Amino acid sequence: QVAPADYIRAHIRTVPDWPAPGVMFRDITTLLANPRVFRVLIDQFVHRYFDARPAAIAGLDARGFIIGSVVAYELGIGFVPIRKKGKLPFATFEETYELEYGSATVEVHTDAVKPGERVVLIDDLIATGGTMLAGHKLLQRLGAEVVEVAAIVDLPELGGSARLKAAGVPVFSLVSFE
Ligand code: PRP
Ligand code: HPA
Repeated sequence: QVAPADYIRAHIRTVPDWPAPGVMFRDITTLLANPRVFRVLIDQFVHRYFDARPAAIAGLDARGFIIGSVVAYELGIGFVPIRKKGKLPFATFEETYELEYGSATVEVHTDAVKPGERVVLIDDLIATGGTMLAGHKLLQRLGAEVVEVAAIVDLPELGGSARLKAAGVPVFSLVSFE
């Protein structure tokens, strides 16, 4: 009997030197393609948030949508997409954050969450933490109470989870790769 986190970890594909030399890219498409692993993965998050009963799951564009929407569906709650700039049609709040080269902006609809609602923010992976932090700021601007931010994978060497914790944001990840 293998622990779920080890089972999930064993099914993540590592692609060396992508998108740049020296990068070990952790690819979650191999989790999604395997229905048994996909179910174990989703169940980890569903069980974690079942008792907490958040009002919604928020997910980050694009890989956070794949996981987050299924978790929300299974919990019987709504899903809030936090999208890359220029995609959402209604009034939005936006947050810009730094990337290795340049910057990125994410947006959320101003009415996506009601003030005081409890929300879990989900993405596939935490690297520098910039994306999660920007998503967290957007949810705070909506007046949401962020239960925690959650990812399948943490890359602790890139400092993102430590940065989030230092900012007072509770962080959960299923597996980490040094
Ligand atoms: C990746 C990943 C996270 C983010 C993590 O997304 O899916 O969202 O980067 O990096 P960070 O912790 O340094 O912010 P990417 O920007 O490649 O977008 P995609 O999901 O559209 O591929
Ligand atoms: N995998 C997926 N997304 C990422 C990675 C990675 O290794 N690093 C930064 N974003």
